[in-house]
Amino acid sequence: MTKITLSNKKDYSTVPAKYCRIILTEDKPSWHRLVECADGTLEYRMGAGKRQKMTVRSYRTLVRSIVQAAKGHQLENIALHLGMMDCPALEAKGGEWFYRTLAENLQLAQYEFTKYKTKGKGTKELKEVLVCGELSAAEKRSFADGLIVGEGANLTRDIANTSGEDMTPSKLAKAAKDALKGTKATVKILSPAEIKKAKMGLLEVVGKGASDKPQFIIIEWWGAGKPTATEKKAGKKKPIALVGKGITYDTGGLNVKPSGAMHEMHMDMSGGAAMIGAMRAIAKLGLKKNVVAFIPAAENSISADSMRAGDIATSMSGQTVEILHTDAEGRLVLADAMTYAQMHYSPSVMLDAATLTGASLVALGQHTSAILTKDKNLQDKLVELGEDSGDLVWPLPLWDEYKSSLKSTRADISNIATNFSRFGGCIEGGTFLSFFASKNTPWAHIDIAPRMESIPSDKLAKGAAGEPVRLLVKFVEQHG
Ligand code: BES
Ligand code: MN
Ligand code: ZN
Repeated sequence: MTKITLSNKKDYSTVPAKYCRIILTEDKPSWHRLVECADGTLEYRMGAGKRQKMTVRSYRTLVRSIVQAAKGHQLENIALHLGMMDCPALEAKGGEWFYRTLAENLQLAQYEFTKYKTKGKGTKELKEVLVCGELSAAEKRSFADGLIVGEGANLTRDIANTSGEDMTPSKLAKAAKDALKGTKATVKILSPAEIKKAKMGLLEVVGKGASDKPQFIIIEWWGAGKPTATEKKAGKKKPIALVGKGITYDTGGLNVKPSGAMHEMHMDMSGGAAMIGAMRAIAKLGLKKNVVAFIPAAENSISADSMRAGDIATSMSGQTVEILHTDAEGRLVLADAMTYAQMHYSPSVMLDAATLTGASLVALGQHTSAILTKDKNLQDKLVELGEDSGDLVWPLPLWDEYKSSLKSTRADISNIATNFSRFGGCIEGGTFLSFFASKNTPWAHIDIAPRMESIPSDKLAKGAAGEPVRLLVKFVEQHG
């Protein structure tokens, strides 16, 4: 773990000798030199490209590259003085955004997943990043906020990177409780018996084949005050609902996945893990908003008790679902979680995040998550906040035309297209969920499968990317 500290030093002149000073030049980002000065101190000179051309995106990457370079050179202490870098795109965003983003990305970049490593790397670790500069009080607060948000995303990565064996539904429930300990958020867990009693037949059926049965995790944060009975009746203080897919391991079920496509499916609870990380950040930031997170947790396993292709289950909403494909399990557990959220909390808005489809990667590659919503305002807001936070999202259509492909012969709807078409799979997933979204609640589905794990250009540790925690926190912060 790297300590990230804000120094009261205006510049590098009084920084102690043990810190290697980072100096940004206008050379190409591939240019860099580690320089030993006459007094024995170190300077790392690094190309950051032309200031005029810097964008909010390249700034985030630059911050991460600094940490990566420090790790690569086995520097133990670095000092960083960026100022606003005279860059028009960043100046337009302002100092608070600048320091929030700096802290978030330093935090994300210092992360390494070491849970299963028995030895250190045999190299020196980056112990501290000292951030210098003259910050206003508001900028200092933004910097501190950024560290909290980054830490929330790193917690999400820890949970998602953990193997399926060590993160079963009951262990995920415990991880949620541990994550919110010491905050004023409350964590409620519905046991398998309570899930049955609540008639969440889809969540139940998905986890039927596993030895660790489903859990339903509810995290409540009443930052604006819990509505009284009269306020509730008047529709006041409604919470934001955040629903996250919590499939702790996805074998595909009896429609088993090919071997090369299974080993990363311990990350199939990334949506749920993001809700845990976001709720922790929201609680630690003390946001004056009401937010409730819902995580349907189940393991999609193979045994004599597994759901069969062709089985029909009754959802909490009452609609019956023909399970034509046991590997389309995420939408099943999410459907019941959405119904539960709407029935018991009547939220003002609902977002869900899920590693729902491989097809989303086919459509978009690995740089952005997909969003599907009928609410144009919500869509625009999410795209804008995605750009602002770095958790990029891009829209795909959620049109009624797509609904007919899910009309089942024997039940109300099927969980995949009845003609087994593989076209438009990401839209198909969102369309299935739309059968469980109430018309009065603005709702957006975020398919985060493209951003489940980092890619080299992210300049982050390999494995879980911790998205869309930054986006969710920003969404809650700005929600009216
Ligand atoms: N968890 C997977 C989707 C996934 C695949 C996420 C790769 C991240 C990386 C999901 O449960 C799944 O298996 N979806 C199927 C749906 C299909 C059966 C309609 C898929 O994408 O193939
Ligand atoms: Mn699946
Ligand atoms: Zn899955």
